Formats: sequence, structure tokens, C-alpha cells
Amino acid sequence: MRLTKTEEGRTPAIIDRSLTLELVRVTERAAIAAADWRGKGDEQAADHAAVEAMRAELERVNIDGRIVIGEGERDEAPMLWIGEDVGSGEGPQVDIAVDPLEGTTLCAKNQQDSICVLALAERGGLLNAPDVYMTKLAIGGNYPEGTVDLDWSAVDNVKSLADAKGVPFTEIVTCVLDRPRHAALIDELRTASIPIKLIGDGDIAGIIHATNTEESGIDIYLGSGGAPEGVLAAAALRCVGGQMQGRLILDTDEKRERARRMGITDPHRKYSVNDMASGDVLFAATGVTDGTLLDGVRLKRNSVRTSTLVMRSWSRTVRWISAEHHR
Ligand code: FBP
Repeated sequence: MRLTKTEEGRTPAIIDRSLTLELVRVTERAAIAAADWRGKGDEQAADHAAVEAMRAELERVNIDGRIVIGEGERDEAPMLWIGEDVGSGEGPQVDIAVDPLEGTTLCAKNQQDSICVLALAERGGLLNAPDVYMTKLAIGGNYPEGTVDLDWSAVDNVKSLADAKGVPFTEIVTCVLDRPRHAALIDELRTASIPIKLIGDGDIAGIIHATNTEESGIDIYLGSGGAPEGVLAAAALRCVGGQMQGRLILDTDEKRERARRMGITDPHRKYSVNDMASGDVLFAATGVTDGTLLDGVRLKRNSVRTSTLVMRSWSRTVRWISAEHHR
């Protein structure tokens, strides 16, 4: 049931807060399963282990859930496919976005920042994005709206952000996925002497870092990555604050048709955080490998330790949960 405004004028939480802990159990279990595959060079096996574990644990959660960002279309994914019902079937009707193993290559190579991610929102709260690339831009929440814009050049965005922050633009640290398709972007930034932190994979973590400059040293995220990861990052930013814009790259008829089937009528639309994740949103991520965002799964003699970040947009609570699981 959708509630009306409280006396303070704030919309009450739609989603029961105890669900946050349930989501932690889901990403924890996926991370523990994926951790068995760290450093073994087998991306598929690692991803499969995370998917199976996440699917199994989701069944125990009291929600009437529907996957809107998942492992692919029904005919190409055995589990967690787009449109699949998950949860016990009892409880609130919610939409779910998952990336059971974000950074499959990072896990296979045992490199930093492989994480298991899940976001949950009230029904209709998450953009149903096709699995295509999305151009993304993100900064922290302490700047006026309109400080950056996806339609400006990278250098103009950096200069505008520097003005808002009150520092020389050559001190603004950008974060970009290290990909050949970003050669022109990297060249533009380097020509202007703007420092870049290049990351090998994992732009959900990259975008979260851009909102937490004091800890991460990153001021702005720029470049293209997966659209599903874009929606998950937007869900995180709903909880921690931050500005983000994204635009789907629909450069073929086939992609435009796929997007149209998912309800996207304007292929050129510039999405804000709220366009991608609205209403009451929960976000959880557990580290698989040690990383800049989270510690990885630690295997001990009789126990396993996990580190999870879980947050909720309604309360803006951010919890870092370190859990010890008996083996
Ligand atoms: P996977 O876990 O699916 O490998 O995604 C990792 C990732 O780096 C994402 O964070 C990012 O959005 C996407 O890949 C970028 O895609 P590509 O590797 O094709 O450049």
C-alpha cells in the first residue's frame, strides 16, 4: 500500500527497513560462492557460482520480486533473467536489479574491486535498461545542480566542477575505464593536464567513488560502460547522494529495437539519477576480491568474513557490515 506524506512532508518508507539485512544475506552468499573462483582464470564459472547463490538466497526473502536488470533475456539466461519472479512471493511488490558478479575478469584474475551487487526498489522504480553501453557522468552531491552536463566536453565538465569546488582544474581527478574506445577522451583530458585514474573494470565502484572524493581521491567519473551497471550505480547514488547522467548508446537498429521492446521511446534521452532509480531504493554490495570500496571475502580456518555496504534512500543510512560466517 502506498502511504501518503507524513506531517513533516516526507514520503514514508514503502519498503520495510528489515529488508536491508535480507539483501545483505543475498550479496554475502553470492560473494562467498564467487570467492572460490578468485584467481582461477574462469570468468564464467565465477559468474555462474554467484548467480546460483544469489538466486537461491533471494528465494528466502519475503518479497514479491521481479528482475528488471539481470543476466539477460529469458532465452539467454537460465537464472535471474529479466522478468523472472524472485522472492517468496509474499511481501511488497518490488523491482530488482542485480549484477551477481560485477567485475568477472577482476575475480578471475584476483584483482581489486570485484563485487556482488543488488538494488531493490518499489515496483516501477528502476529503469529497464537493455544490455548496451551507456555514456555516464557522475560527481558528488555537494555541488549545485547543473555543475556538469553530459552534453559538454570532458574538459568543460572538469573546469566547471573545479570552479564549483574552488580548485585549479588540473587538481580534479577523473576516473575512466581503461578501454580503447576511450582513447579520445583520455587524450582530451591528458592534453589539458587533467589527472586520470584508469580502472580496468568495475564502473559501479568507480561512480560511487566519485561521490566520496575525500576517501577515494576521485572527483568525477566519465566515459561509457554497461547500461545495467549504470542503473545500479544510480540506485547507489540515490542512497549516498550525488549527481549522475547517463545516455544509452543505441547505435544499431537491433539495439534500438531491443530498447523499444523494453519501453524506451526516446533513444537519445539523457537520464538523471531519479530517472534511473526512483522512490524508495535499497542497495547492497559485498566485496569478492579486496578493493578500494570493500574488503574481499576472507577465508579463515573455521569461518568466512565478508564486508558489505548496504544503504537505503529513504533514510540515507549507509551501513558497512562486516560479518563472520561459521564454515
Ligand atoms: P562484467 O562484470 O560484466 O565483466 O562487467 C565489468 C565492467 O567493467 C562494468 O563495470 C562496466 O560497466 C562494463 O564492464 C564495461 O564493459 P566493457 O568491458 O565491454 O568495456
